[in-house]
Amino acid sequence: MMEKDIIILGIESSCDDTSAAIIRNGYLLSNVTASQSVHEAYGGVVPELASRAHQQNILPTIDQAIKRAGIEKNDISAIAFTRGPGLLGSLLVGVSFAKGLSISLGRPLIEVNHLQGHILAHFIREEGKDRDIPEFPFLCLLVSGGNSQIVKVNRYNDMEVLGQTIDDAAGETIDKCSKFMGLGYPGGPIIDRMARQGNAHAFQFNKPHITGLNYSFSGLKTSFLYFLEARMKENPQFIEENKNDLAASLERTVVEVLMDKLTKAVKATGIRRVAVAGGVSANTGLRQAFMDKADRSKWQVYIPPFSYTTDNGAMIAMAGYFKYQDKEFCALDKPAYSRVTFK
Ligand code: KG4
Repeated sequence: MMEKDIIILGIESSCDDTSAAIIRNGYLLSNVTASQSVHEAYGGVVPELASRAHQQNILPTIDQAIKRAGIEKNDISAIAFTRGPGLLGSLLVGVSFAKGLSISLGRPLIEVNHLQGHILAHFIREEGKDRDIPEFPFLCLLVSGGNSQIVKVNRYNDMEVLGQTIDDAAGETIDKCSKFMGLGYPGGPIIDRMARQGNAHAFQFNKPHITGLNYSFSGLKTSFLYFLEARMKENPQFIEENKNDLAASLERTVVEVLMDKLTKAVKATGIRRVAVAGGVSANTGLRQAFMDKADRSKWQVYIPPFSYTTDNGAMIAMAGYFKYQDKEFCALDKPAYSRVTFK
C-alpha cells in the first residue's frame, strides 16, 4: 500500500515578514514571503505597523503558497506555525490564523520555535537541487536581528545553547551602526554591499572581552558611535568620505568576534560540523570566514541558500515536518510567546 503524503503548511509571522510554505515529504513545494517596506522610513521595525501589515498579508500569502504548491487546502496534513519568540502583535496574527485554519480543516497544529526553525532550514530539500545536510550532532552559529547564539544541535528537537549574547545581537549592532552612518534600513545588506568596496583594516574598533562562549556587542556599537562623533567634529564629511572603509572595518570586527567564540566552541566540544543560520548568515564576510575555516581548519561547514537565511515559512514547515513524524502536536490554547529562547 502507498504511504500517504505528509504535507505541511508552515506559517511565519514573528517580525516583519509574513511567510507561508508547503513541504511535501520533506521537499519544498512553495515558499511565499510578503515583506514590509513600511518600516524603512523609521529606520527599524515598528511593531504596531508590522502587525497591521501581517493582517493584510496573511491571507493572500497562504493562498499563494497553496496555489504555487499545486495542492488543495484539504491535502494539508498539519499546520505548523511560529509560536515565538518575536513581536507579540506580529505573532498573534500567524498564531490566530493557524488555529482558525486548524479548526476549519480539522487538521492538527504544530508549534515551532522560531530559532529552531532557522537552524532546521538546513534540512530543507528541493527537487533537483542537491545540497549537504548536516549530520547530528553539529554546532550552529545562529545570528539574526534579535539573536546571536552558538547552539549544539543533538537532534531536530534537542538543542543546547552553549553561548549567547548578553546584550545586543550581531544583526542589531550592524543595523544600529548603519543608522549612525545615516544609511537605510535594514543596515545589514547595505553594510555588506559597501564593505565589498572598502578596506577592512582601515579602522579598529573595541572588541569585547568576555569569558566563555557568550557574546557582547554593545561595547562595539558604542565604540563605533563615539569614533564617528569624534571624527565628524574634525571633518563633517568624514562618514561620506570613508563609508566603504567604515562598513568593511565594522563587518570585519563583527565577523572576527563571531568566529573567535565559534572556534572556541569547536575546540571545547570536538564537533567540527559547523552550520550558520539566521539573517546575518547572508553576510558575504561571514560566509567567506566559514569557507576559510573549512579550508584551513578542516571544519565541515553548512551555509544555507540566501532565501532561507532571513525569516521564511519554509523553515517553519520543515520543523513541522519533523515534529509531525513524532506526532508532536499542540493544543489550541497555547498562546504566542515573545521572549523565551528555546522551549
Ligand atoms: O533572521 P532575520 O531575518 O530576522 C530576525 O529573526 O531577526 O535577520 C535580520 C537581520 C537584520 O539585522 C539584517 O540587517 C541582517 O539580518 N542581515 C544582514 C545581511 N542580510 C540581512 N547582516 C549582514 N549582512 C547581510 N548581507
